[in-house]
Amino acid sequence: MGAMHDPLGPDAVEAVARGRFGRPCRYLPEVGSTNTEALAWAADGADEGAIVVTEHQTAGRGRRGRTWFDEPGTSLLFSLILRPGIAFDRLGLLPVALGTAVATALEDACGIAARTKWPNDVTVRGRKIAGILVETKLVGSNVDIAVAGVGLNHDWSGVQVPGGIADTATSVSTEVADAIPPRATMLGELLAAFELLYQLVVGGSDPAELLDRARSRSGVLGQPVGIRTAEGSLVSGIARDLTADGGLQVETEGGPRVFHVGEVEQLRPVR
Ligand code: BTN
Repeated sequence: MGAMHDPLGPDAVEAVARGRFGRPCRYLPEVGSTNTEALAWAADGADEGAIVVTEHQTAGRGRRGRTWFDEPGTSLLFSLILRPGIAFDRLGLLPVALGTAVATALEDACGIAARTKWPNDVTVRGRKIAGILVETKLVGSNVDIAVAGVGLNHDWSGVQVPGGIADTATSVSTEVADAIPPRATMLGELLAAFELLYQLVVGGSDPAELLDRARSRSGVLGQPVGIRTAEGSLVSGIARDLTADGGLQVETEGGPRVFHVGEVEQLRPVR
């Protein structure tokens, strides 16, 4: 599996890892979910920076019980093990930093004008190109382990995209006319961008710099949005800002409201 695609073995991954993130690498040709594998590896004592990479997930997971589609060898699928040691109330900054890093890497490596769609998506021209799933293990109110899972649609030329996402998803190959960078190159860019932003999450300092970078990559700030909450209600308003804990401040008819990642089922831009 993956023989026809760009190389993504452990050597290729560790060769592009410029900092602490990306080594050691556990490469699996196929796995249920890299997040599940990484959570188990972390529980067994894996260090921060260890990464699980695969060509194909048979049970790829999205947020809120959704599934994540891939065809073997055509996506960048990985889970990075983190040991943030931050208080739970800073946890919302992790997906913000990760999404910002993915969008930055897409721009730097491929010239794609990618934007984040709070809380967990990266989009191009309004279509989803990458999804993020951060899962954690808490000790008290401290985030002991976080697994940062990313699925990036890479080379979808020749891929039969399922009907349910054909109109809402895109891929690197769809967005770039010329040859596209190999997955390992993109992973190296992404890990380097994330490692910088991660320091701003765990450093304990004012997250102002992280928020500024995240604002500049956001595709929702200033836009009308509809939010379906986890409880099932629909709230509409204008997305105004990111808050210091990674929430989204929305100006609604009833006044300003702040949403946090766990409270939101879905956010849709309203056109
Ligand atoms: C979403 O958009 O709902 C999040 C999708 C996250 C998918 C990635 S692929 C690698 C990692 N392993 C998983 O099972 N999920 C994440």
